[in-house]
Amino acid sequence: MTTALRTADAEVSAGPALLTVDGLAVSYGAARVLDGVSFTARAGRLLAFLGANGSGKSTTLRAVAGLIGHDGGTIEFASGTDRPAMVFQKIHLVARRSVLDNVCAGALHRIPLARSLHPWLFPAEIRREAMAALDRVGLADRADQRAGTLSGGQQQRVAVARALCQGAPVVLADEPVAALDPKAARSIMALLRELAHEENLAVAAVLHQPDLALEYADHVIGLQSGRIVLDAPAEAVDLDQIGELYAEVAR
Ligand SMILES: Nc1ncnc2c1ncn2[C@@H]1O[C@H](COP(=O)(O)OP(=O)(O)OP(=O)(O)O)[C@@H](O)[C@H]1O
Ligand SMILES: [Mg+2]
Repeated sequence: MTTALRTADAEVSAGPALLTVDGLAVSYGAARVLDGVSFTARAGRLLAFLGANGSGKSTTLRAVAGLIGHDGGTIEFASGTDRPAMVFQKIHLVARRSVLDNVCAGALHRIPLARSLHPWLFPAEIRREAMAALDRVGLADRADQRAGTLSGGQQQRVAVARALCQGAPVVLADEPVAALDPKAARSIMALLRELAHEENLAVAAVLHQPDLALEYADHVIGLQSGRIVLDAPAEAVDLDQIGELYAEVAR
């Protein structure tokens, strides 16, 4: 299944569109930093966003996640999937709490308000789901450990488990491997690809490593100065094309 998706049929065998962005425009004050950004995130597919610093990658994810507004275009989620989960470069775990508690926190929005008086008393059902998510990222045996005592790569796995615990079919990751050593970075990329292919999620990850994008992603989107200049299956892209993304443009 996983390898079958990485064939020339990738476009055909990818699942339904879970997120459709069309003509997205975002401005900060008078400065338009995204213009006419259109793409589709499909179930079962890992999408990589590449582009130079300031090209608009984070702005794209933040607008899709509803963290910032947009002044043009549309962002449409397939019904029932309107709440993407986010994974960030800077891993925001509560260091003094257990790994399991941190993962449960992903499900906070599903817990009735009364419970929020005791924010760390998660219902048994949520704890079960969190354990399953931890198992999925290979850290079930660390459930009771304090999050702050894990390595960076392990903490990013916990952040991915927390995103899974949100139950969102669309997962957005902004530089999820930027702070990790090469081996840990590869294992997180393998995990994100596995989650896309096996759990049928639409995963979109911003990366600064073109080689990782080509190796792990199914589809690559390249941004330059707030516009999409590359949108192709990973198989059809080579490193030279990606290099062009980082050429020129005065910044
Ligand atoms: N809050 C803000 N206020 C004003 N301008 C902003 C704000 N956030 C981002 N920008 C500008 O928007 C443009 C796109 O920024 P964005 O953070 O999306 O780039 P990026 O592709 O994620 O870059 P990087 O690779 O450095 O993370 C940049 O010119 C940036 O200066
Ligand atoms: Mg960014």
